[in-house]
Amino acid sequence: MLKEIYEQPEVVRRCLAAYLKPDWDGNQETALQSSPFNFMLPDALFASVAEIQIVACGTSRHASLVAQYWLEQLAGIPTRVRSASEFVSAPFPLTANTLTIAVTQSGETADTLAAIAVATTRRSQAEGSLPSWLLGITNQPESSLTKAVDYTLLTFAGTEIGVAATKTFIAQLVVFYCLALEFAVRRQVSAQPLSAQQLGDTIAALRSLPDQIEAILKQQRELIQVIAQTFADVNDCIVIGRGISRAIALEGALKLKETTYIHAEGYAGGEFMHGPIALLDAKVPVIAIAPAGSVYASMLTNAQKAKSNGAPLIGITNVTEPSDRAEFDHSITVPAIDELLSPFLTVVPLQLLAYTIAVQRGLDVDRPRNITKTLTS
Ligand code: AGP
Repeated sequence: MLKEIYEQPEVVRRCLAAYLKPDWDGNQETALQSSPFNFMLPDALFASVAEIQIVACGTSRHASLVAQYWLEQLAGIPTRVRSASEFVSAPFPLTANTLTIAVTQSGETADTLAAIAVATTRRSQAEGSLPSWLLGITNQPESSLTKAVDYTLLTFAGTEIGVAATKTFIAQLVVFYCLALEFAVRRQVSAQPLSAQQLGDTIAALRSLPDQIEAILKQQRELIQVIAQTFADVNDCIVIGRGISRAIALEGALKLKETTYIHAEGYAGGEFMHGPIALLDAKVPVIAIAPAGSVYASMLTNAQKAKSNGAPLIGITNVTEPSDRAEFDHSITVPAIDELLSPFLTVVPLQLLAYTIAVQRGLDVDRPRNITKTLTS
């Protein structure tokens, strides 16, 4: 798992290289007229998709929840995400011009394959009146998923052995972010269409991600070791995030659960106030994902509330103003980045923390109890 966490800068580089056109020039006035990406998907798909429906499980579902935010906020496309296992018994209503996306790093997860089968059957029965597309996002070029879908986007993460998905998650985020940006560029439909300058800045920010992840891995390891020692014996832990960070809170909690066996729960910061806050006392640390941006102030209010209820507070933030970080008992710093891109960075300390606590507890981090890498039945 540690090796795979440390491979993430290279994975992001590789995945970006696969989808970013090398000769795209963000400085030109006409930047918006030619897409920066190379997806090899039909123009008709980009032109006519009115809704996106995503099915996935576990960590792949969390990547999809981040993507939902990007697809809606960047590209303005209504997007729904459902656990593949729930979709089978309760599929989304059939709608026209719908892009269904199945996400599975292994390409073999039984629930996700079953969801694809259900989606395909229902759509074929409604053929003609409901144009639609089926796209898979996977790390496995030769898999049951790639055989079942019309189009595939590969994540190029290299084989992942650790049961806890890390590098495949970040690669899924790269693919999803690029896809959302491609829709946004082609459509220019959002309330605030992108300018050529913004697009150029965004691509530059994407290209900086590998170095920024490397910086976290180098600079925060020691602090994370200290935090892991402090909290290695807790039974419960809460992870909170708002907006784009909500899905990262869910993912951080999943990493903690499956590697450390700590009962960890992820919540949207606002929702956390409506009951779950009753769980807090001095033995329940709260991890607040608090990147600078539109929800930072509300996140800080949540964090203060948690602290006033006695919970030890760990912040993951890129806010550097000392008075703004004063609430946190421990602050894990990530580099400054646009809020929408922050999941690429805020997830890394959570992965490292889960790994480090699991090692502190003497657990076999690569082979946690009760689970296998791929749930094929
Ligand atoms: C991730 O850490 C988990 N081991 C698990 O939730 C996993 O993401 C899930 O089973 C889905 O796997 P897939 O991406 O191969 O479909």
